This record gives sequence, structure tokens and C-alpha cells, in this order.
Amino acid sequence: MATTRRAASTAKTNGSAKAADKRLLTPDIGLSDSARRQMCDILNKRLSDSMVLYVKLRNYHWNITGMQFAPLHALFEAQYDQIAEAIDEIAERIRQLGGIALGTLDEFKKNASLSENPGERPTAEGMIRNLLADHETVIRTLRADAETADKLGDMGTNDFFIGLVQAHEKMAWFLRAHLES
Ligand SMILES: [Fe+2]
Repeated sequence: MATTRRAASTAKTNGSAKAADKRLLTPDIGLSDSARRQMCDILNKRLSDSMVLYVKLRNYHWNITGMQFAPLHALFEAQYDQIAEAIDEIAERIRQLGGIALGTLDEFKKNASLSENPGERPTAEGMIRNLLADHETVIRTLRADAETADKLGDMGTNDFFIGLVQAHEKMAWFLRAHLES
């Protein structure tokens, strides 16, 4: 009888320890669970877009041809390096909000709003136009996402998104300038 009581008491202690752990492991940062979940879903979508753009920049860096080979090869590299940093920051932001960052190509493809064009070999100008369109799509999406973050009271992600908008606007300008006469 005493053993049974002790076992029950131990189970109760374990149960409350687990509950305390859960409380500790859930970010208590002034955001509701629902707000954190919504932001993590959005962040995973932007992570997926960034992965698509990263691969596209790699592809174009490798396969660029023509008289502008050297500067465009270098420009695409500079941009994929910047996107690689953003990818890491987006994924780590998801973890800071208590979410799980996507980490498979399958999931990235399912969650991305940017598309790929397998089998196509664009000209140098075509590459610039495709990348510019992708950056502009990302900028427009991030603008709406920053507003959502603001509405949900997530000032950290709001500020993070605004920083990303600025970075993509600069990368878009670098591309757009090639198309101006
Ligand atoms: Fe390279």
C-alpha cells in the first residue's frame, strides 16, 4: 500500500516537473501561442522562397555565358551569399519563436511561392529578368508579412522582415540597373 502511494506521489512529481519543463521550454515572450505559430508558418514560407532563390542564383552563377560572363558570375555569387545568410537568420528566427524550421527540399518546394523553370537555359538578360521578378515578388510578400507581424504584436519579426525588404530592394536594384539604357 505504502509502495503504491509512493509510486503515485512520484508520478505526480514527475508530471508536475514535466509541466514545469514545458512552461520553461515554451517561449514566454509576450506573444500568444497562436501568434507565434502564425509567424513560424509565414517564416517557413519565406525560408522556402529563399531556398528557391538561392538555388536559382547558384544555377545562373554556374551557367551564365556571354560577354557579361565575369561580372554576372560574380554578381550572382554575391547575391547567393547574401541569401544564404538570410536563410540561416530566417530559420533561426523560427527556432527563437519556438517553431521547427523546415529542412527538406520536398517541404521547401511545397511551401515556396517562387517557381523554378527546370530544363530552361535563359540568356544573361533572361536570368536578370527572372531574378529581378523573384526579388520583387519576395519584397511584395515580405511587405504584407511585416504588416501581419505588426498586427500580431511581433515587433521582432516585423523589424526582421523590414530588414529583409531593404536587402532584397538593394539586390533588385543591382539587377534592374542592368536593364536600364
Ligand atoms: Fe563559384
